Amino acid sequence: MLQRHLQSLHYHTYNAISVKEAVAILRETDIDLLITDLKMPGIDGHELVKYVAENYPLIPILVVSGYPSVNDALNVIKSGAIDYLVKPFTHEELKQAVLKSFKGSKKIKTSSKPRDFSSSSNYGELIGESSEIKEVFEIIDRVKDNKATIFINGESGTGKELVARAIHYSGKFSRAPFIAVNCGAIPENLLESELFGYVKGAFTGADANRQGFFQAANHGTIFLDEIGNASLAVQSRLLRALQEKEITRIGSQKVEKVDLRIIAATNSDLKELIAKNEFREDLYYRLSVVQINVPPLRERKSDISLLVDRFIKKYGPEYKDRITPISKAALEVLERYDWPGNIRELENVVQRAIIMCDKTIEVMDLPDHLKYKINFSQEGWLPLREMEKEYILRVLAAVDNNKTKAAEILQIDRKTLRQKIQ
Ligand SMILES: Nc1ncnc2c1ncn2[C@@H]1O[C@H](COP(=O)(O)OP(=O)(O)O)[C@@H](O)[C@H]1O
Ligand SMILES: [Mg+2]
Repeated sequence: MLQRHLQSLHYHTYNAISVKEAVAILRETDIDLLITDLKMPGIDGHELVKYVAENYPLIPILVVSGYPSVNDALNVIKSGAIDYLVKPFTHEELKQAVLKSFKGSKKIKTSSKPRDFSSSSNYGELIGESSEIKEVFEIIDRVKDNKATIFINGESGTGKELVARAIHYSGKFSRAPFIAVNCGAIPENLLESELFGYVKGAFTGADANRQGFFQAANHGTIFLDEIGNASLAVQSRLLRALQEKEITRIGSQKVEKVDLRIIAATNSDLKELIAKNEFREDLYYRLSVVQINVPPLRERKSDISLLVDRFIKKYGPEYKDRITPISKAALEVLERYDWPGNIRELENVVQRAIIMCDKTIEVMDLPDHLKYKINFSQEGWLPLREMEKEYILRVLAAVDNNKTKAAEILQIDRKTLRQKIQ
């Protein structure tokens, strides 16, 4: 009855039939108001009120009870309840009591706080505020609810897999499976059967029918990472899956229909592989119906502080039991660096710094190669003839000026050596 009334007032409710269940829900869920009876089988409501008042002091508590006694009422209010409602009560009385409880609540209501879209929490772990990453978010929004094939391009560590996951989990097929396959990590001779499955007897060792990743991901998303590593045999099967939406298991003629979204990713230059006949051009065009270019971190340095903040929150509690702040100077060093390993490298550096630091992450907690900008000034370089001279002199010194031996080592004849010495 409570649930029905509350739902008609547009509250979202959770039911528990015992204190034990209520505690489990409190642990899992961000609750804004607890309503409880007092007299219950097993652990009673007084215990729950005390428990919540101590462990979740910000949650207001409304007690309902069928056995009114002034003592009871006083006791529960002392132990943390905000209000006391006597059964039976009307719909209106309940509504007023709930409103009153919320008013007296000290809780900042996180659950009803408007979503902070600028930090883009709706893309899973993928975060960023730069215009470069926002372009990526925009494409994700356009593709998440359809099954268009997507091709993700970007350097290693830029977040290609996170982009693929964001597409799947933010869209309307998110309840279907998402299966990530690293085509570079599976041995070439296995990839085909892993992807498409096989029938018993297809090859030695195939002692039963087995489904592949394609069948397993049906109706959802298959993410083919490092697609550049797929063999030509796999590529032609992929092409067929894309064109005809059908696959056959290894060793079988039977055609199976599949209906899924294919996301492929690579950090290698497919155009180059196409030129070397190692990647099918027709497959490339089929795959890149929608192309997403994930920018390298050095092209969106404005996201560095946000990412650092995220990683500090992620690893601080794990390694140091708290969140370790970072000094301005240290952050500047991170923002100056070029990040060839992109976000994966940044994450490692922050992780290490948290482990190494005392209270705050300082410049000295960062790896040396980040600290000093390598300056490729002209002065350090020698002209070729200078190099040659220095090298010949070193060889001569090593053989005690024996020109025959030196000429042998340098693989030039003695006459040339004499000219060079002159
Ligand atoms: N935009 C982002 N926000 C937060 N973390 C990110 C972001 N992009 C990448 N990461 C992190 O960086 C690491 C590398 O990401 P990943 O998707 O595996 O990159 P790729 O597949 O391009 O090599 C992962 O640990 C991931 O969580
Ligand atoms: Mg990857």
